[in-house]
Amino acid sequence: MWIEKLYGMYSKCSAEHWSALSVEGNEQIFVDALNSKKVKTILEVGTHYGVTAAFFAELGYNVITIDIERSDMAVDLWKRLNISDKITYHIVGNNIEKVNVILQYDFEFAFIDGDHRSGQVKIDFDAVKKCGNVLFHDYVHGYSGFEGTSEVVDSLPKKQIKVMGDFALWQI
Ligand SMILES: C[S@@+](CC[C@H](N)C(=O)[O-])C[C@H]1O[C@@H](n2cnc3c(N)ncnc32)[C@H](O)[C@@H]1O
Repeated sequence: MWIEKLYGMYSKCSAEHWSALSVEGNEQIFVDALNSKKVKTILEVGTHYGVTAAFFAELGYNVITIDIERSDMAVDLWKRLNISDKITYHIVGNNIEKVNVILQYDFEFAFIDGDHRSGQVKIDFDAVKKCGNVLFHDYVHGYSGFEGTSEVVDSLPKKQIKVMGDFALWQI
C-alpha cells in the first residue's frame, strides 16, 4: 500500500506522526473527488511534509503546493519517490504573496489544508474558488483553531457540499 512505502522510507518517523496527516485511510475520498471532474493540475495550500502532494503526484496529477515554511523532508520525499518533476513548491511570506502565487496558475482542483483558523480559510478559498472544485480538510466543529474551515463551508449552498468524515468537497 502507498502509505506503507512512505513508512518504509521514513522508518525514523513514528506511525503516529504520519497518521496525523491527511492521506492515510482517506485515499478513496481524494480519488473520488478527483474522478468527479476532469483534473490535470491540483493546487494545494498547506504542504507540510509533502505527503498529500506526493499522493496527488503519484496519481499522475501536476501539483502546485504552497506553504509558509519550507520542509526539506518534503523535498527529499518527492526525490525518493521520483516525482519531483510533477510538483511545484512555493514558500510564501504572507497571505498576499500566497494569493499572488495562486493567481498565476490554472488548476482544476484545490485542496485547502493550511491555516485553519478563523478568517484564514476564506482567504485561501477566495483565491482558489475559480476552479469550482475544492476539497477542505479539517471540517470540524467545536475545535479551537479550526473555525476557519466551517465558517467557509457552512456559508456555501448545502447542495454544493459533500461531507466525508472531516473533509468537505465543494463543487459547482
Ligand atoms: C495540516 S498541514 C498540511 C498537511 C498536508 N496537506 C498533508 O496532509 O500532507 C498544514 C500546513 O499549513 C501550513 N500553513 C500554516 N499557515 C499557512 C498559510 N497561511 N498559508 C499556507 N500554508 C500555511 C503549515 O506550515 C503546515 O505545513
